Amino acid sequence: MRNLVSLALGFILLAGWSACQHQPPQPNAGPTVSENCSSDTVYFVNDVLPLLQSNCAMSGCHDNGTAADGVRMTDYANIMDEVKAGNAGDSKLYKVIIRTDNNRMPPPPRPAFTTAQKALVQKWINQGAKNNSCRNRCNASVFTYSGAVRPMLESKCIGCHSGVAPSGAVNLSDYTNTRIWALNGKLYGSIAHQSGFSPMPKNSAKLSDCEIQQVQQWIQAGAQNN
Ligand code: HEC
Repeated sequence: MRNLVSLALGFILLAGWSACQHQPPQPNAGPTVSENCSSDTVYFVNDVLPLLQSNCAMSGCHDNGTAADGVRMTDYANIMDEVKAGNAGDSKLYKVIIRTDNNRMPPPPRPAFTTAQKALVQKWINQGAKNNSCRNRCNASVFTYSGAVRPMLESKCIGCHSGVAPSGAVNLSDYTNTRIWALNGKLYGSIAHQSGFSPMPKNSAKLSDCEIQQVQQWIQAGAQNN
């Protein structure tokens, strides 16, 4: 009897195992990861997603809760609803960020995307709008304001932390204001997810260890305008 039970159990386990083995690839499977970043490629996970999450996916706009106009700028599958892979000119996402009237996105009084940010989105779409990601772009030994801190803030923070009413009254749109938050400890506390601080970037993945180290070293070296 005991043998029979274990035989049946073994069979069930085997059946379950082989069922798992034969699952087709999931359409929403994660990104394709390259070990090294190519300078000719725009990467969804590294470049485009943080920009859209921090400029569009806030509460009241295109997060999952509000989903204004049914648009969610929260993840690859939802973002692709507004994208025609390979054709930026025919993609709603690109068309709304290059408008110059009041219907542009992000809408006034929020700052428009910079020329470089628009070009980034355009290039990513024209390169096929892939769900791609790369490692090893961040270099922890570079920790100047202009070379490391500013580009990270522009990509991941200032969508919420700039304009007439920056989130949490924390303005990170220029050096002078950013320095205040660097020196009072809140910039580092929030990105390192230390207790007692609101974890940042809000509603997005934590920064990489390398990015956090860059900010930490910049602050430790006096948070200079370098
Ligand atoms: C989607 C909007 C959004 C993004 C993106 C965002 N923040 Fe915030 N941030 C907020 C809000 C809202 C608050 C106010 C506190 C709260 O609601 O959690 C805040 C608060 C803060 C504070 C004050 C924290 C404290 O404990 O007093 C700092 C510093 C900060 N953010 C830095 C950043 C940095 C650095 C980034 C980018 C890496 C970032 N934020 C990205 C919305 C955002």
